[in-house]
Amino acid sequence: MNKLIAGNWKMNGSLAANQALLAALAQGLGVKPACDVAVCVPAPYLAQVQSLKVAAVDLGSQDVSAQTSGAYTGEVSAAMLKDFGARYAIVGHSERRQYHGETDALVADKARAALAVGITPIVCVGETLAEREAGRTEEVVKRQLAAVIHTNGHCISEIVVAYEPVWAIGTGKTASPQEAQAVHAVLRAQLKAASDHPARVKILYGGSMNAANAASLLSQADIDGGLIGGASLKAADFLSIIAAAQ
Ligand code: 13P
Repeated sequence: MNKLIAGNWKMNGSLAANQALLAALAQGLGVKPACDVAVCVPAPYLAQVQSLKVAAVDLGSQDVSAQTSGAYTGEVSAAMLKDFGARYAIVGHSERRQYHGETDALVADKARAALAVGITPIVCVGETLAEREAGRTEEVVKRQLAAVIHTNGHCISEIVVAYEPVWAIGTGKTASPQEAQAVHAVLRAQLKAASDHPARVKILYGGSMNAANAASLLSQADIDGGLIGGASLKAADFLSIIAAAQ
């Protein structure tokens, strides 16, 4: 199975910066890299990135509405994302859980909205530092994933999961390969138990993944790729991580 390296640009970018970044990626990647590559961009830039047509790079959003259409000011529906060629939608990123009060149930509904139009939700789970120190890591990530399984059990093999320990995001602190693998194995078992489908669900690691630590993280048995924040904004760094995944 190909690994998936997905960039999460977060609230960064401009027309000029995006164009330069994608041109550098196109040049560095060639026609068909030996892993899957995606960039999850701010919604206003979906049209731009779609029109730049970098064949080796799939397009994703950073969020999606749980609603289909109607009076939901500021929301972007899954069908709209689909119109712009989005293949992935991040749901339940810890920054949305933290700053926008997103609950496990809402995240599960967002995953359902994406799946309904054929967009692959990248479901983020992860514990805070306080939760880890209290020995609650497993309980927290299982609860977060269980909500998504509860709502989407029949098509659970079509999601991607991203384990992103909150304390490792944007901090320069990475989970060690062993710490990450331990949580991935827990999530893998939970996904297997929830599905009678033989397909392997991709489980990505996210949290200060960079050119220096990518290879050791990606060599773990249950780490199927990465969800990259800061390092996805620099073409050379993102390309190094992609190279480590091939
Ligand atoms: P950083 O790679 O900047 O730590 O961000 C990780 C992340 O939140 C990806 O979704």
